Amino acid sequence: MAKDPGRVLIFDTTLRDGEQSPGASLNLEEKLAIAQQLARLGVDVIEAGFPFASQGDFAAVQRIAEQVGGEEGPIICGLARASKADIKSCADAISPAPRKRIHTFIATSDIHLQHKLRKTRKEVLDIVPEMVQYAKSFSDDVEFSCEDAARSDPEFLYEVIKLAIAAGAGTINIPDTVGFTTPSEFGELISGINKNVSNIDEAILSVHGHNDLGLAVANFLEAVKNGARQLECTINGIGERAGNAALEELVMALHVRRRYFNPFFGRDSDNPTPLTAVRTEEITKTSRLVSNLTGMVVQPNKAIVGANAFAHESGIHQDGVLKNRLTYEIVDAKTVGLSDNRISLGKLSGRSAVRARLEELGYDLTREDLNEAFARFKDLADRKREITDRDLEAIVSEQVMQPEARFQLHLVQVSCGTALKPTATVTISDQDGREQTTVAIGTGPVDAVCKALDLLTSEPNELIEFSVKSVTEGIDALGEVTIKLRHDGMIFSGHSADTDVVVAAAQAYINALNRLVASKNKQSIHPQHDVVKANL
Ligand code: KIV
Ligand code: ZN
Repeated sequence: MAKDPGRVLIFDTTLRDGEQSPGASLNLEEKLAIAQQLARLGVDVIEAGFPFASQGDFAAVQRIAEQVGGEEGPIICGLARASKADIKSCADAISPAPRKRIHTFIATSDIHLQHKLRKTRKEVLDIVPEMVQYAKSFSDDVEFSCEDAARSDPEFLYEVIKLAIAAGAGTINIPDTVGFTTPSEFGELISGINKNVSNIDEAILSVHGHNDLGLAVANFLEAVKNGARQLECTINGIGERAGNAALEELVMALHVRRRYFNPFFGRDSDNPTPLTAVRTEEITKTSRLVSNLTGMVVQPNKAIVGANAFAHESGIHQDGVLKNRLTYEIVDAKTVGLSDNRISLGKLSGRSAVRARLEELGYDLTREDLNEAFARFKDLADRKREITDRDLEAIVSEQVMQPEARFQLHLVQVSCGTALKPTATVTISDQDGREQTTVAIGTGPVDAVCKALDLLTSEPNELIEFSVKSVTEGIDALGEVTIKLRHDGMIFSGHSADTDVVVAAAQAYINALNRLVASKNKQSIHPQHDVVKANL
């Protein structure tokens, strides 16, 4: 049996595999804010990125390694293909972290060997120990993944794993890269590895999986029953295609059904010790932060973090819940940090009260960012009577974390109505502070604003998503707008909140355009789709 830490280790890959979702790209400040929140959430490992991808990715992993974690905090991990150049870059990026890990991988399925790597099984068997040893020369903690393991020949997989462990890998990860497997098959695969790899007791068995058939979480739970003790997952389940296994679903399944899972850990079923180290009360805040910064909107019926996930929140079965919560609720909303949306501040609240509440919410802002957030708070307090924690979160995530802005919005004015052609007047400035104003007519007010912004910025793009939702209830609520633009086959998202949804749309559009412009001079490598060039 594989090494058993006595509980499940949570390996968060939101910043690596999650960021591979189209349109989810994050800048350095945003990655840092998410990593800091993941540390507060209590994950065991943060996969901070793929340092070889670009200078920007390297810098982000390095900053996270410098600033997040510490001796007691999460391990900071970087991804590297099984090549010396990747591994060296990863080692350099994670080097400032007190607890660090190199995660290296190569594909093991015949389909990947033939069509992607163009390598024989024998060649893979030679590369694996060499690259694991090379990674070990930089870091004691090395994880090795067999990409597309779920579609690999198990006998070949056993050989690869045995060599990786003999070369020093302390964690062996089994990915279902294309989301193909089913729970019982995945459980059998993990049990087969436990039975057939002679040195498996020297490593922790980990699983990684995508949600193409909607089975990722179920597959992982079956893997846990068969000895997997590290789960690789993302907040809100974001990731390529249908995403990765969702962290919040796994953690809450292990929390709510602890009595069921305990015996698989050799414990009595009523043992109260949690099966993960995650602080569940931080789940909602982490989910919102990731959604706001990536522009990946959470579907309302999403388990644990969707707006309708809790009966009393969505107004469903109110009567039964009021009589006895247990009638329709298996999780108390407070367990995941869904508080009663405390009204924290109002028009008369001062700067220190705003700072104090933001600190309580986990936002430790620089002086400059706090000034900006306070100005936004004052502006909002003039228009909205009560400012809730959700409002504060919207202000901070939207205003403070934006990428180095090339375009800034100065004025939006719209006339529209039954008897008018929607017309927008918009003023923006570029990075040299030059102001420009234009007027455009559209099919509606938002269309008119976007047309005006297109005229002013001359950045060709296609608007592919526009969504509005309210942050809190009530007629004076902030409206949150998420916009996605496509340019040159790439997707860029922008997010903003304002009591005026047209203003929020204009700002979200500018934010997406700024990301588009910022990406223009950046070349990035995809860890799984791009082939290793200068091999080994
Ligand atoms: O899906 C996958 O196989 C991966 C590996 C790089 C772990 O993301
Ligand atoms: Zn993956």
